[in-house]
Amino acid sequence: MEKRFVDKVAIITGAAKGMGKQTAEDMAAEGAVVVIADVSRKEMEETVRRIQKASGRAKGVFCDVADRAQVDQLILGTKAEFGRVDILINNAGILIPGSIEETSDEIIDKTINVNVKGVLYAIRTVAPIMKAQKYGRIVNVASITGKNGDNTTVFAYGASKGAVISLTRSVARQLGPHGVTCNAIAPHAVMTDLMHYWDQAKKDDIASRIPVRRLGTEADMAHLMCFLASDQAGYINGETVNINGGYYMD
Ligand SMILES: NC(=O)c1ccc[n+]([C@@H]2O[C@H](COP(=O)([O-])OP(=O)(O)OC[C@H]3O[C@@H](n4cnc5c(N)ncnc54)[C@H](O)[C@@H]3O)[C@@H](O)[C@H]2O)c1
Repeated sequence: MEKRFVDKVAIITGAAKGMGKQTAEDMAAEGAVVVIADVSRKEMEETVRRIQKASGRAKGVFCDVADRAQVDQLILGTKAEFGRVDILINNAGILIPGSIEETSDEIIDKTINVNVKGVLYAIRTVAPIMKAQKYGRIVNVASITGKNGDNTTVFAYGASKGAVISLTRSVARQLGPHGVTCNAIAPHAVMTDLMHYWDQAKKDDIASRIPVRRLGTEADMAHLMCFLASDQAGYINGETVNINGGYYMD
């Protein structure tokens, strides 16, 4: 198999668990040095160990993406240690369920701080590095809710992911002339920890309404993120790619 990421340096936020973890493992298997940034220390260390056991190169960095200083340290530290930052995957995200009535100031602040500010901080700091390299791949993890709004109870979350889609386009325009692309993915219904609030009946109901008749997997998401982060995707810029089995199309 062709290895698409030989000696590429990739930072993936929120890669201790879920779809970010799978993406980190896949990228490392194809030759990348992967820097995993997360607040779940134990799972992060486990993921790093799994990658290293499979002969991959990985490093864990504790980083709360809502904290600007920690994000700066993550990115500048990676550049100092490995010499470049080729790929940034803004995958860390939180979902605190809540209808309009249930959404407190705290839920709004937390959601926006992690899901929006975390992405803005990381891109702002990585941009000069990628511009100087004349190369970069940025992939943001948005959501179906960012396009279509939410149809149940994640009022603040949907708004945060809509912002990610908009900023993806802005970055694509500003950094495209410098050899840097910026794209996003819009997943739906991947049964990671984030989706703990869906019971079995809900999962079955949703799966029965998805044209391919199944929920998404972490591997599905990792395949798309790796593609968008690869050289093969050099002419895709500013897109937010639906990945939902045909549940929502635009
Ligand atoms: N699972 C789905 O169906 C789905 C659908 C649409 C979008 N998404 C998005 O996919 C991304 C990955 O989520 P997942 O489903 O793999 O969930 P997950 O909960 O398994 O993974 C999220 C990871 O982000 C980390 N994280 C949370 N807050 C952080 C912070 N402040 N700083 C650094 N790391 C932090 C967590 O520790 C965890 O490792 C998220 O942005 C989420 O919004 C998921």
